[in-house]
Parts: sequence; C-alpha cells; structure tokens
Amino acid sequence: MTKIAVFASGSGSNFQAIAESILRGELNAKIELVITDKPGAFVVTRAKELGIPVLEIAPKTFASKADYEQAIIDALQEKNIEWIVLAGYMRLIGETLLSAFPNRIVNIHPSLLPSFPGKDAIGQAYEHGVKVTGVTVHFVDAGMDTGPIIAQVAVEVAESREETEERIHQAEHKLYTATLKQLFQ
Ligand code: GRF
Repeated sequence: MTKIAVFASGSGSNFQAIAESILRGELNAKIELVITDKPGAFVVTRAKELGIPVLEIAPKTFASKADYEQAIIDALQEKNIEWIVLAGYMRLIGETLLSAFPNRIVNIHPSLLPSFPGKDAIGQAYEHGVKVTGVTVHFVDAGMDTGPIIAQVAVEVAESREETEERIHQAEHKLYTATLKQLFQ
C-alpha cells in the first residue's frame, strides 16, 4: 500500500475522487495527510468528513519558501509519505520539495499540455476557440505545468463553460485515479 499526501488549495473534488477510489478498494494507497496552503479551503471540510488528517499551512507565516517547504517535508517524513499528489494546489513547487521527492510528485492539469499551462486553462481554451481540450497528468518539475507527461485524455469543449467544466472534472477524476493506480503498481 502506497502512502500518499494530497496537496490542494480549493474545492478538493479530485482529492475526494482519489479517497473514494481507495475506499472502494480500486486504488491500493492510503492518504496519510492532506496539505493545504489555504486554511479553511473546502478540501479541509472534505478531508475531515473522511477522517483524514489535514495540515493547514499558510506560506506567509514563514520567512522563506524554503522554510515553508521544509516544514511540509518534516510533516511528510513523519508519516513516511512516498508520493505527493497535487490536486488543485495553486503554487509552484520549489527546489526544497523537489529534491526531497525526486520523481515522486505528480499533478493534474485541465488541458492537453503543453497547451494552456498555468491559471484558468479552461478559460484559455475558450479564448483560443479550440473544439477539443482535455486533461493531463504529469510529473512535477520546477516549471509551471512543464514536467514529463504521464497520461492524457481529450474532452470536447461544450457551448457553455459550465458544461465543459463538468466534463473536465469527470475526466480528471477518472484519469487521476487510473493513472495513480498504474504508478503505484
Ligand atoms: C482541477 O481542474 C485541476 O486540474 C486543477 O485544479 C482543479 C482542482 O479542482 N489543477 P478540485 O479542487 O480537485 O475540485
């Protein structure tokens, strides 16, 4: 069983999908810790309901990014975390964390990378008028959504943004759990 930590800054629907997949016995992993840089984010409520420990850690309470990431590493090592799973974590990972978890940090992004990296990938898809966008799972490096791609799935853009967001989320939840399953085997 692989011990993982999920990092999230917002709603946490991908966290929830991973947790439910574990509960159904489909994914042989344990979420030992949820880490959020946004104290009070909805992911905290979701984690508490599932009885999963949460670390709410605000970067601005540390003197530097390195200090912030070292505090995170201490919490991860205490729980023998093997993999870091980013799920809507809205912050670049720095050298401190990258070197502590080489090739053991993955992210999900709501576009077919390398198109539309960074913020509001779905909005970028509408601005460019693409008819097909998608979802990417990739290893994390120092860049913004630039690491080696592990898995992708295409999603047709709908007329309404709401509908596209719904399709993207559904695709994310399926692709992330399936990809993690392969990675942990
Ligand atoms: C997802 O679209 C993910 O791809 C992106 O942030 C969003 C997080 O959604 N990185 P949620 O918090 O998991 O619902």
